[in-house]
Amino acid sequence: MDMAASESRVTMDEITALAKRRGFIFQSSEIYGGLNGFYDYGPLGAILKRNVKNAWWRDTVELRDDVVGFDSSIIMHPLTWKASGHIDAFHDKLVDCRVCKHRFRFDHLKDPNQCPDCGSKQSFTEPRNFNLMMKTQIGPMEDSASTAYLRPETAQGIFVNFKNVYQTARKRPPFGIAQIGKSFRNEITPGNFTYRVREFEQAELEYFVPDDGKDLDIFREWVDRRKNWYASYGVKPDRLRFYELTEKERPHYAKAGIDVEYLFPWGWGELESIAHRGTYDLDAHMALSGKDLRFFDEASKAHYTPILIESSAGMDRTTLTMLVDAYDRERSTDPNGKATDRVVLRFHPYIAPVQIAVFSLARNKPDLVERARSIEMALRPTYRTQYDEGNIGQLYRRQDEIGTPLCVTIDYDTLEDGTVTVRERDSMKQERVPQSGLERYLHERIGA
Ligand code: GAP
Repeated sequence: MDMAASESRVTMDEITALAKRRGFIFQSSEIYGGLNGFYDYGPLGAILKRNVKNAWWRDTVELRDDVVGFDSSIIMHPLTWKASGHIDAFHDKLVDCRVCKHRFRFDHLKDPNQCPDCGSKQSFTEPRNFNLMMKTQIGPMEDSASTAYLRPETAQGIFVNFKNVYQTARKRPPFGIAQIGKSFRNEITPGNFTYRVREFEQAELEYFVPDDGKDLDIFREWVDRRKNWYASYGVKPDRLRFYELTEKERPHYAKAGIDVEYLFPWGWGELESIAHRGTYDLDAHMALSGKDLRFFDEASKAHYTPILIESSAGMDRTTLTMLVDAYDRERSTDPNGKATDRVVLRFHPYIAPVQIAVFSLARNKPDLVERARSIEMALRPTYRTQYDEGNIGQLYRRQDEIGTPLCVTIDYDTLEDGTVTVRERDSMKQERVPQSGLERYLHERIGA
């Protein structure tokens, strides 16, 4: 394992246990024994992932006037995958162990001569190609003419619609088309929780630029934007790296490529790929479909095929990154002065599933409950809130574990002097704040 990885404190077992205990992520179809490579997002996980996607969408589409949104179908004409090269070349090498019959991805084996499951030596079959696309059938006839594929990337839906989009959105290069959606890959060895799965979501930006010599500068600008994006949502910079692909590692048509990698507990893993793809994708679809997808430039009265810069990020991997990166365990003292371990998710407030928790100190005091509920209701339109009541120590502990930045407690003093206690997740500092100034106080701390 990477030296730096061993320094990161949390283990994947701890993350998996917390994710299940607090309702972030569950194994799919658990009551039937689970399904390898598929996961379900629980109440908090669904919000966490939605926040990650919203953050990407907002910064990539909504705050820019040179990017438009898109949402294409998961199943596309099978010729799409012929043109893209996925039918012929979207393979991993697979080997079988002749002794235990288990299958492995050849390039994932630590020792290509020894089975990691049963330990047998020289028991592998010759490596052979395994296509990662998932097949399905369209309509009632099960023959080769009805074979279709679940998309292994969302990008192709954008390429085949390039002309529809630029004409209707009245855009000219440089401009981008972005979408977030499900993709499917029949991974031979899914693993590391939601890191390598068979059904996942991608956020892809396809940015089309004119062939005027500025393409590599625009590529670098997108790399910087993506760097800033991770930083602005709090991902620790020393656990992120931007690996520049060598000419040998890049496809022949690509002028540049960068893998964004995060330092997971098991080592570095890819979160996103940023690629200069030349005119490869549009050319391939034009050649197979016979349709002209070139851009017509009114100024020069000439057609040209724009160059493509792609940023493709996995939303499940980014959500997992947020969980791992936010995880912290520290020694603290409970209200009785006893030393305990505090588990806290230090989510950025924009990413945190719950932003403000409001508590009533006691369950059975209608005055307190009513006051706390009305404060929580008033904050709801602005923040993601949660109401709870009872033992404050336990409530803080729970909110720390789900990463809530601020807790507001309503107690007997509130009824007397109109102040509430605001407790901050990271420092655990508590402050008395007048209820009348609460909104402004919260806004100053975590924004709207
Ligand atoms: N259109 C380009 C493309 O799909 P990719 O590097 O194959 O590029 C982009 O995939 C991203 O999609 C990856 O960086 C990763 O975050 C995510 N991804 C790919 N396969 C995945 C899998 N099996 N499970 C979870 N995420 C995956």
